[in-house]
Amino acid sequence: MKITVVGAGAVGATVADNIARKQLCHELVLVDIKEGIAEGKAMDMNQTASLLGFDTRITGSTNDYTKTAGTDVAVITSGIPRKPGMTREELIGTNASIVKDVTENILKHSPNAIIVVISNPMDTMTYLALKSSGLPKNRIIGMGGILDSARFKYYLSQSLYCSPSDLHAVVVGGHGDTTMIPLTRLATLNGNPVSNLLSAEALDKVAADTMVGGATLTKLIGTSAWYAPGAAGAALVESIVRDQKKVFPCCVSLNDEYGQNDICLGVPVVIGKGGWEQIVDYKLTTSEQEAFNKSAEAVRSMNSVLATLSL
Ligand code: 2OP
Repeated sequence: MKITVVGAGAVGATVADNIARKQLCHELVLVDIKEGIAEGKAMDMNQTASLLGFDTRITGSTNDYTKTAGTDVAVITSGIPRKPGMTREELIGTNASIVKDVTENILKHSPNAIIVVISNPMDTMTYLALKSSGLPKNRIIGMGGILDSARFKYYLSQSLYCSPSDLHAVVVGGHGDTTMIPLTRLATLNGNPVSNLLSAEALDKVAADTMVGGATLTKLIGTSAWYAPGAAGAALVESIVRDQKKVFPCCVSLNDEYGQNDICLGVPVVIGKGGWEQIVDYKLTTSEQEAFNKSAEAVRSMNSVLATLSL
């Protein structure tokens, strides 16, 4: 098993760190465009191996994709992160050409790789990677919903004073401050609907806090977050390489599922060695479906910007 992480910034390095700690592969390649960054961070992580007890070998590479040859799973985190006050959508012009180039470079050396997209705006970058590569749809997965759902569980656990891992809670739709849809109706604490435990107002506040979860962190830190995005990316990779068949909300290509077409958007999918293997139908209520359609409209209008860029 060989895994490549492209982009050795905070998110990429944290994905790589989590992958190594979980021993998901023997060979892990970290690639960055800036001279020395990937090599340095790879060496730093390798020096934690004896302390943390992993055998994964991490190789750093300054844009040399020959080192990534034979990759089974590639995680793309490249591009600029957002600054306080910026939306993820504002990154599209800069990040589109980067993500397209990276996808091409990965596939040139690893034509069978499964591609995980983390770069923002994630829904549009996933769509771009799918369209520009022509890969089978099951091999392109956008990671946004796992992170948003982890934040949803965090805010729920704060209100309920419970363990986040006792919660099941899912965010579908886009990975944007106004496009994500925390499905409060389906959230449970060990099977008990959270609506039995929290007032409607408290649940609305949890949903609202979840939606701006990334922006809240960006404002505090001055750049976008990395611990939760990194852990979420590694959880997705783990379900692929261990063929765990976990159901995660991920951004995938929809062909009539959830009433949408020609778009990549967050829905619950089974993740295993084939990439995303199946879409799970949560049977949305009319109002949830309306919110999903609105989210799709916003993402579609962002996707239309791609045609105006010279990629
Ligand atoms: C976030 O929500 C980086 O989009 C990512 O923190």
